Amino acid sequence: MQEKKSLRSLFFRHLAPTSPEPLALEIVRAEGSRLIAASGKEYLDMISGISVSNLGHNHPVINKAAIEQINRHSHLMVYGEFVQKVQVELAQLLSDLLGEGFDSVFFGNSGAEAVEGAMKLAKRYSGRHEIISCKNAYHGSTQGALSIMGSEVYKNSFRPLLPSTALIQFNNFDDLNKITKETACVIVEPVQAEAGIIVPENGYLQALRNRCTEKGTLLIFDEIQTGLGRTGSLFAFQKYGVRPDVILLAKALGGGYPLGAFISSGEIMQSLSENPVLGHITTFGGHPVSCAAALASLQIISDEDLLLEVQRKSDLFASLLSDLPAPFDFRRSGLLMALDVGSEKMNFDIISNCIDAGLIVDWFLFSPQSMRIAPPLNISDDDIRHACSVIKNSIK
Ligand SMILES: Cc1ncc(COP(=O)(O)O)c(C=O)c1O
Repeated sequence: MQEKKSLRSLFFRHLAPTSPEPLALEIVRAEGSRLIAASGKEYLDMISGISVSNLGHNHPVINKAAIEQINRHSHLMVYGEFVQKVQVELAQLLSDLLGEGFDSVFFGNSGAEAVEGAMKLAKRYSGRHEIISCKNAYHGSTQGALSIMGSEVYKNSFRPLLPSTALIQFNNFDDLNKITKETACVIVEPVQAEAGIIVPENGYLQALRNRCTEKGTLLIFDEIQTGLGRTGSLFAFQKYGVRPDVILLAKALGGGYPLGAFISSGEIMQSLSENPVLGHITTFGGHPVSCAAALASLQIISDEDLLLEVQRKSDLFASLLSDLPAPFDFRRSGLLMALDVGSEKMNFDIISNCIDAGLIVDWFLFSPQSMRIAPPLNISDDDIRHACSVIKNSIK
């Protein structure tokens, strides 16, 4: 009789790998800021599934909304054809919260899909084809999103990619001159995430806005990591006081379920409706169960008090980690945080120590010397204190 294989060995055999050494933690349950492994070991989640679980795991209100929607109906028709109450309610709430210029929402399934849609929108609306993005930006792994990624290492093996793309350095005012009347759009994260949490310098986003307006170029903010309260404002553009023409959301948008969106004005979005008709479509975009979870989640996250707490908790992290000596460097925008430990090797050792001690932390794609700290926004103060003491002990 064939021996029963362990789940772990089946994982390695049947799930296609993304790296030679995946973490391969076997998590059987998750609750609030905690992940519980098959062994019974508890982990404190400091990364929220990479900025997804902004209200923690297994949130009862989100669960209830999803289950009620499952009992009503699941998929009915490809995106954009039927009037589905929960989709409409979510789009309306997003438009209200985003304010003027964001009254039209195109739902997809993921971040990369939102990026792809927005690039097509910009080309279609402007009649131009050049797309500018930033060095060390990550916008997704599909071919269009990969074409505007700010790293040759990741792009080179997959060439040829999209033509007419160019890179600028985030926070470099001179580079803004590269935006011309040929440029369809500039796609930028208002706080660079995978670059290791790089916040905009004073006046940079406004100068970028001005240059785009002057050249008739669409300004697209990728808020896939920064959105939904992560930086202490509901959307980072509100925190930094600069409005883009198009905003991209995903990750935390779905309250733990797959959902992405690109959002703009009705006038701009109108250009996708014809020439050709059905020129941008998606089967599962705006799945009703994801929309129900998203609506429940957004109603909680948009609460002013919760957003104020994000800033206070970010300050608590900063004060608890403030006595780390150089070369340690702590960068943050709300609860989107990076602890730069000086070297990649040291970072990987510290991360491994943290995980052994029951704390899930991670690194950044383009800043491997920095530790990613992005816990659920409703993490408790006690858990923050515990996390900082584990980090410090792991450094020792
Ligand atoms: C800023 C940003 N944009 C886009 C994406 C792509 O999102 P997805 O993985 O849902 O395709 C990510 C994912 O990490 C991201 O961080």
